[in-house]
Amino acid sequence: MNEKKFVIGGHTLDETAFKRIMQNKERIPDPMRYKKEAMHYRRAGASGLKLPEVSLGLWHNFGSMDNYEFMRDMIFTAFDNGVCHFDLANNYGPRNGAAEENFGRILRESFPSYRDEMCISTKAGFGMWKGPYGDGGSKKYLTASLDQSLKRLGLDYVDIFYHHRPDPNTPIEETCYALHRLVEQGKALYIGISNYDLARTKAAVDVFRELRTPFILHQTCYNLLDRTAEQSGLKEYAAEQGFGIIAYSPLAQGLLTDKYRYGIPEDSRMRKSFTLKEERLTPALLQKLQKLREVAAARGQTLAEMALSWVLKDKTVSSVIVGASSSEQILENIRINPVFTQEELEKIDGICKD
Ligand SMILES: NC(=O)c1ccc[n+]([C@@H]2O[C@H](COP(=O)([O-])OP(=O)(O)OC[C@H]3O[C@@H](n4cnc5c(N)ncnc54)[C@H](OP(=O)(O)O)[C@@H]3O)[C@@H](O)[C@H]2O)c1
Repeated sequence: MNEKKFVIGGHTLDETAFKRIMQNKERIPDPMRYKKEAMHYRRAGASGLKLPEVSLGLWHNFGSMDNYEFMRDMIFTAFDNGVCHFDLANNYGPRNGAAEENFGRILRESFPSYRDEMCISTKAGFGMWKGPYGDGGSKKYLTASLDQSLKRLGLDYVDIFYHHRPDPNTPIEETCYALHRLVEQGKALYIGISNYDLARTKAAVDVFRELRTPFILHQTCYNLLDRTAEQSGLKEYAAEQGFGIIAYSPLAQGLLTDKYRYGIPEDSRMRKSFTLKEERLTPALLQKLQKLREVAAARGQTLAEMALSWVLKDKTVSSVIVGASSSEQILENIRINPVFTQEELEKIDGICKD
């Protein structure tokens, strides 16, 4: 029998998903969301802030061209399963600012009384508006950008505010002090940095320590195929200093899943966005992914589940920030088992080094 299919915003859905999405307007968060124990929580470094092991990032699929009901469905699915940390940035879209606007609308329409159950982060650091004050790490830019973000989100404060990337043209003291002041003004509760190398991280930590800034997280790319955070000594330094690593692109933008197992689907990031290039999909990589898939299967996991579990195997990693283009992906991505045998770890390392 042919199952009925529905298309929303370029996504093909079965009848159950379609009906669920159509009822979003009346939907309320699942009262059993914590009782299901779908999610575990870890402290962000040595701070008191707990984060879900899996957080949801809104870099892709929450822009001005994406379907609103689809976005709202993903936020409900995440929240209903204990994923209470949502990661944004001023420039997530496209159009810059669109993800914050869409998320703000979802909060307003569907989660008006759930703010205190959510950890919401945003960032500034990439080019956001024209002229000399719309980019970088100056006090001028960071202060104005967070004010704009709060407006788009409809919030009084964010839980974590990050400097999105280092700015070699601004003294580190200025950037750190600007972030510190935003905490003093009550616009952010905690501070993070992102994409800083080890030397610049150390310089920032020195300033934050002097100011007693609640600096708690370093957001960095970390996955089975990108071990820079380990090789550079950043992960070790984080453990030593008591701040957490929060890993972005833990699935290597979808490579570490079954998405590209049989080719490049039309609805994939590789087809729809410039951030994941087709050249990455070499025969050597496909072979590596297949071998990793076999290790995952022996653990009773999919490749995506194992890839996320692997990043979370050490407690220095406070959370993985996954992206998703559907609720089904979120449901797969929360199945974490961060316990690995030595033999499994060696096998995985052997495959990744090849
Ligand atoms: N600080 C920074 O500079 C920085 C940089 C990058 C990202 N980030 C943050 O990290 C978040 C996550 O980054 P990311 O989106 O690159 O993470 P990712 O989890 O590595 O990749 C997410 C993409 O993989 C595919 N996918 C996810 N789960 C899947 C599954 N179970 N099966 C098949 N495909 C699956 C989806 O792509 P399809 O669309 O192809 O389905 C999804 O959009 C961002 O949203 C952002 O918040 C921060």
